[in-house]
Amino acid sequence: MEKQEEKQQQGRCSACGCVGPNPGYIPLSSLEVMRRLVEISPYWKFETKEEDDSQRLVRKFTCRNWQAAIDYIQAASVVAESEEIQHHPDIHLTRYRDIEVSLMTHFAKGLTDYDFALAKKLDTIVADYSPKWLKANPEPLRLSAVVAVTPTWGIGKDGGLPWTAQGVHLKKDLSYFKRMTMQTVDPNKVNVVLMGRRTWEGIPEQNRPLKGRVNVVLSKNKEWSPPEDSGVLKAESLADALHMLSELPLLIGKIEKVVVIGGAALFEETFFHPQCSEYHVTHLEQDFASDTFLTPRTQLALSSFLMAGEGEELSGPLEGDGVRYRMMCYNPHLSSELIGASSCYEEEAPSGSAAKKAGSDEVDEYSKESLARTFFP
Ligand SMILES: NC(=O)c1ccc[n+]([C@@H]2O[C@H](COP(=O)([O-])OP(=O)(O)OC[C@H]3O[C@@H](n4cnc5c(N)ncnc54)[C@H](OP(=O)(O)O)[C@@H]3O)[C@@H](O)[C@H]2O)c1
Repeated sequence: MEKQEEKQQQGRCSACGCVGPNPGYIPLSSLEVMRRLVEISPYWKFETKEEDDSQRLVRKFTCRNWQAAIDYIQAASVVAESEEIQHHPDIHLTRYRDIEVSLMTHFAKGLTDYDFALAKKLDTIVADYSPKWLKANPEPLRLSAVVAVTPTWGIGKDGGLPWTAQGVHLKKDLSYFKRMTMQTVDPNKVNVVLMGRRTWEGIPEQNRPLKGRVNVVLSKNKEWSPPEDSGVLKAESLADALHMLSELPLLIGKIEKVVVIGGAALFEETFFHPQCSEYHVTHLEQDFASDTFLTPRTQLALSSFLMAGEGEELSGPLEGDGVRYRMMCYNPHLSSELIGASSCYEEEAPSGSAAKKAGSDEVDEYSKESLARTFFP
């Protein structure tokens, strides 16, 4: 124990033996982790180890052959030992050419700035992947969502927003939406906004397509197509859209993230999608008559996160036209237990129109009240 403390004081991680300006002991918050994830290759997966709840970044891949795997390990060693990094990954050669790289700061029992610096540097190594592996594992696109909800989980009214229908405008929420969907960390990349057909139709004609972003609209209707020459893309499902985006030559390597902007069914699919790690929710204090609601399954999952205090506050209380609201961000992967608990809704509440009508009735009163209590005491 003494030895460990000594190392701690010297800024060394006793478990991995890192020597440099060791990050030490304060793990990044989940919000910081979410933000930093966009800076590194989407091949990195964020994982929480069951035994001790520790968080790590893991990347697994198959090299062309044994020598290619060894070359990668050697290149990773040079990065880890470099003066700039001095932080070491756990690398396993799990089969003769299969590699697993795992990053964490052992002392912090979690992720620190140094893990992200190391991940970024490791991303610069050109690994000689197995062509078969690469074909089966095209670089995954990052998925996130942004939604604004009433305390009873209403999101829409007559094709528009429930509060706008009553003349209420949430300016800061709108500018946050614009920033969040438009801004990229890498200036050479662009974001995609992905939406259902009704959401598209709800955007005032003069404002669509949303500028500075690739617009994708989902519709199963073969007759429906986006306006000619608008540059808007159409897909028949979320999976098709992601596939199309990763295959279009013009967009390969150019997309930073795909942001789902509605409606109800798509919000649910996104929350439970393995590629989604960022779910932005603006919670309004005041209720407004709505005809479209988040699906019961999404409501329950978000309520569970709120109850467990799993979300990160992006803002304190804000106000627009007399209505108070708060912005939160959730990482659906942070609490698989809670999401598991919500899966009981799966059969009863298929996504789509039936789910829309369910609205507040399906969710315990506690969630509505607690929402108001948590945010607007
Ligand atoms: N509060 C907010 O943050 C927010 C955000 C977005 C939207 N809204 C509001 O919500 C309402 C619209 O939402 P909504 O749930 O009614 O409709 P929506 O999801 O925008 O549109 C539904 C239609 O989109 C297509 N679609 C949706 N998911 C699909 C999928 N996975 N695969 C293939 N096609 C899919 C289908 O089109 P086809 O019928 O053509 O096959 C479906 O009928 C509007 O009032 C809008 O203003 C609010």
